[in-house]
Order: sequence, then structure tokens, then C-alpha cells
Amino acid sequence: MADAVRHVVEVNQFDRARVEALFAAADRARALPRSAQPLAGYILATIFYEPSTRTRLSFESAMQRLGGSVISTENAREFSSAIKGETVEDTVRIVSGYADAIVIRHHEQGAAHRAASASPVPILNAGDGPGEHPTQALLDLYTIHHELGRIDNLKVALVGDLRYGRTARSLARMFRLTTGSELIFVSPTVVPMGADVRAELDAAGVRYRDEPNLAAVLPEVDVVYQTRVQQERFTTPEEYERARGVYVIDRAAMDLLGPKGIVLHPLPRVDEITVEVDDDPRAAYFRQARNGVYMRMALLCDVLNQSI
Ligand code: CP
Repeated sequence: MADAVRHVVEVNQFDRARVEALFAAADRARALPRSAQPLAGYILATIFYEPSTRTRLSFESAMQRLGGSVISTENAREFSSAIKGETVEDTVRIVSGYADAIVIRHHEQGAAHRAASASPVPILNAGDGPGEHPTQALLDLYTIHHELGRIDNLKVALVGDLRYGRTARSLARMFRLTTGSELIFVSPTVVPMGADVRAELDAAGVRYRDEPNLAAVLPEVDVVYQTRVQQERFTTPEEYERARGVYVIDRAAMDLLGPKGIVLHPLPRVDEITVEVDDDPRAAYFRQARNGVYMRMALLCDVLNQSI
């Protein structure tokens, strides 16, 4: 019987052993000599129906660093045959004839699952509307591991738009795989963490609480995971105005954070972390973005069953 296709569509498909194996592979990717080409001859397709800087370019960089090549459509909503009415399922059926793996970002929640159901080659979910962003969650957890040396027994503040922010939703789910940690949800009242994620954390025994006062949380946390308010997902401008600008990490906030605390952000940022914070060694978000290349190198080798 043929091996199952190794799609990456949601966080809950991962167990601790696979995550730790990916961390080790990402460490090897970090040190990989330029001459090593484990994916030489392989082709990656990137299909993005929504804008992206980090996810698309880091996947493409990862593939090229591994010796593979890339075909791409960066505005698939307008410049692919989606505009003529082609379904995601049909698109990936066609593209799977051109590429060995497909990275897809789509505006509809569940689109990556639909793509995976139709694809004979691995699908990697690069974000499906307000649903999930599993490769971001992996690189976020890898960054915590790399910066702090552990992923257990942590206090983590998830800050900002926890309703529409798929990176925060996916990272919260990742903590099912850890022990002894506590998540603190710091969100404007209009964009709380969803009941679906809370139910999964309850089932896994992960402690969490809501705390509207960011200043009260900062001295006690190991990680601040700041997020952008997802303007594009609000149904009314009034609701967006109630969510924006409520929580800002600035120099005063950094004065409250402990000396070993780190600040992460999936980026892009708007105004929720001021630029004066960037030079603080605890500001780890640019290192986090760089880690995206190493984690995506690890993932590409993993789904294509190649060693790194
Ligand atoms: N973090 C992230 O998903 O960034 P992009 O939207 O630039 O890919």
C-alpha cells in the first residue's frame, strides 16, 4: 500500500514526538552547508489567494536553499483561474501535476482541508481565513524553544486579536503538546479567544485565563505573543475601531517585562509594537521570522520524506 500523503493542514495533527523531530531538523537546517541539496529535482508550488510577505517568501527561500525549485502565483484570487470560477479542489488537482508539494493560503476557513482532500501531493496550509496557520505555530513554538530552551512550564500572554488572529489560535492549540504551562488571553472584548480553542485546551488540561490588564501580566510572563488586529476580517469599521490600539508594547511595557521575557509577533505589525522596542534584546520577532525559513526547510523535507 502506498504511504499516506503528508499534508500539513492543522496544528492538531501533530504530536510531541513529531514536533521535537521538526525542531531538531530545523536546527540542522540552520547549519546546513550551501552545497547540501536534499530536495534537488523537487518542485514546490506556492498558491496565495491572500497577501503574504513572510510565509510565501520563506517557503520559497526554504525550497531553494534545499536545492529545489519553485513555481508560484502570488495573487491567485485575481491572477489564477479562480477568477473564472475554478474551485480550489480543481486547482490543486492540476497543480499537483506540476509540483511535488503545494503551499496554499486562502481566504476561506477550511480551504486547506478541501485542497488536501483533492491533492495527491502534500498540501501545506499557509493560512486559511481566520482558521489556522500551522506552519507559523510550529515556527513560533520553535522560536520559544530556541530562545528559552524549553516549551514546558511557561507563562505565555497571547495579546491582541485572538478571535480573527489565526496565528494566536494555532499557537494556543500547540500548547496541548506541552506540560505545566499557562496561557493568558489579553484581548479587546470584541475579539476574545474562541470557544472552540478553549474547549480543546480544557480537554487537554491546559490552564488558561483572561486578563484585560496587560500591565499586570507583563512582570509574570515568559513570552508575550503580540498580534495585529486583523482589520480585513471585521464586518464593520465600528467593531474594528473598538479593537485597535488597545494593547501596545512600547518602552514602558518593556520596563514591566522580566529580564528573561521575550516578545514575539508573527508580523506584519501596524502600531502594536513601537519601533523603539526593536533594539531590545528581548524583542525576538525578527529572529522569529528568520526561524520561519529553518522550520519550513524542516517541514518540506518531512512531507517529501527526505532527510536533512
Ligand atoms: N506571519 C505571516 O503569516 O506573515 P505574512 O502574512 O507576511 O505571510
